[in-house]
Amino acid sequence: MSAEQPPFRVGLLGHGTVGAAFEELLAGRAEEIERFNGRRPMISGVLTRSQGDFEEILAGCDLLVELMGGLEPARSYLLAAIAAGKDVVTANKQLLSQHGEELFESARERGVRLRFEAAVAGVVPVVRVLEESLSATPIERIHGIVNGTTNYILSEMEKGSTYAEALAEAQSRGFAEADPSDDVTGRDAAAKMAILARLSFGSPVHLDEVRYEGIEHLQLDDLEYARELGLGLKLVGTAERRDGGLSVSVHPTFLYAGHPLASISGPFNAVTVESGGITEITMSGPGAGGPQTANAVLGDVVSVMTGGARPPAPPLPLTLVTDVQSAFYLHLDVADQPGVLAGVTKVLGEHDVSIRSVVQRGTGEGARLVMVTHPVLESGLAHAVEQLAAFDFVRSAPRTIRVIEEEFL
Ligand SMILES: NC(=O)c1ccc[n+]([C@@H]2O[C@H](COP(=O)([O-])OP(=O)(O)OC[C@H]3O[C@@H](n4cnc5c(N)ncnc54)[C@H](OP(=O)(O)O)[C@@H]3O)[C@@H](O)[C@H]2O)c1
Repeated sequence: MSAEQPPFRVGLLGHGTVGAAFEELLAGRAEEIERFNGRRPMISGVLTRSQGDFEEILAGCDLLVELMGGLEPARSYLLAAIAAGKDVVTANKQLLSQHGEELFESARERGVRLRFEAAVAGVVPVVRVLEESLSATPIERIHGIVNGTTNYILSEMEKGSTYAEALAEAQSRGFAEADPSDDVTGRDAAAKMAILARLSFGSPVHLDEVRYEGIEHLQLDDLEYARELGLGLKLVGTAERRDGGLSVSVHPTFLYAGHPLASISGPFNAVTVESGGITEITMSGPGAGGPQTANAVLGDVVSVMTGGARPPAPPLPLTLVTDVQSAFYLHLDVADQPGVLAGVTKVLGEHDVSIRSVVQRGTGEGARLVMVTHPVLESGLAHAVEQLAAFDFVRSAPRTIRVIEEEFL
């Protein structure tokens, strides 16, 4: 009979929404994990602002789980753990998107595992799928709905709520923080897309290099017209190979009904991976929540315990491309007078913007022109819009929103 194995000691930094749920989940699953792994995981120490000592927790654990959030002291604690040769698990997307390379490099040098499934898309197991199942697949493009708060708000707006009403509802149902700025400005999604880009393409991407735009300025009538054109609105992150480089961005985006992300509604997340070899794979599931996120964190712990994870791969830097082609929705409020449409189409034509569909409506004294373009370089459309905005007959600032056509590689 084999000797009983010692427990697997987990040091826990942070005991908030996710940390407390993680401790509870681990206690409930410890026996089952011991049954297939031989070692029983247990929490050997907990650090919050009011309890625990970091050095003691570090010395007494086999693996450190960081669920505090923020940059410091999370960064220093993780680096100290890695330097001490301990495997680490974190859910901290802000830290990974700003100091990921430093942490990856240290973990690689020291030969320890750094797992972060819960940092991207909540419970959706996209990190492991990219690192393991699709490790032999040359990925061309990732699209993600990676922020559940904004997806919930947009779903409510599609049902007729204003932005302010939808945000208030998200806050009262616990889907949005009291200060929702990181979510609604697109910064939270940008952090996750930086991490996904690093995973998919091997190239280090800092949060500051991701172009992002939020949902705070969207108007209800954009959604109404889009519905007539057969489009649904999401906050979509995109990381893709372009012109030998890499483009990473987050924008409010219209999707045609057939796109796999078009049906993702409420506080859910989803990621679509595209590659010539696999066509397209979509994964979706709950985007946040203590108990849900705790599942992803415990999955990482078990993966380290069973030896299933490797230290991070070295980087493979690609140039960041910022001017890419996209189809666009273009919204113009114009005077109802002869020659307006001709003036608009002339300017668009001069910048190689061709129109795929158009809706025109009278608004009393004026008219509203809503168009969807064929793919055009962002810079080309931006110049055309600048020129259109200068016409006397254009009554308010033109509005543009990206459109993803259902087109797989
Ligand atoms: N909440 C979610 O649904 C979700 C989903 C995915 C990922 N995440 C990520 O998970 C991490 C934790 O999120 P959370 O929602 O659980 O946060 P939270 O509820 O605010 O909890 C944070 C915990 O960390 C502790 N802490 C913070 N700063 C500390 C410091 N300087 N020293 C010691 N302890 C400190 C806090 O201690 P006190 O109790 O003393 O204040 C608290 O226990 C974040 O990186 C977040 O981005 C969260």
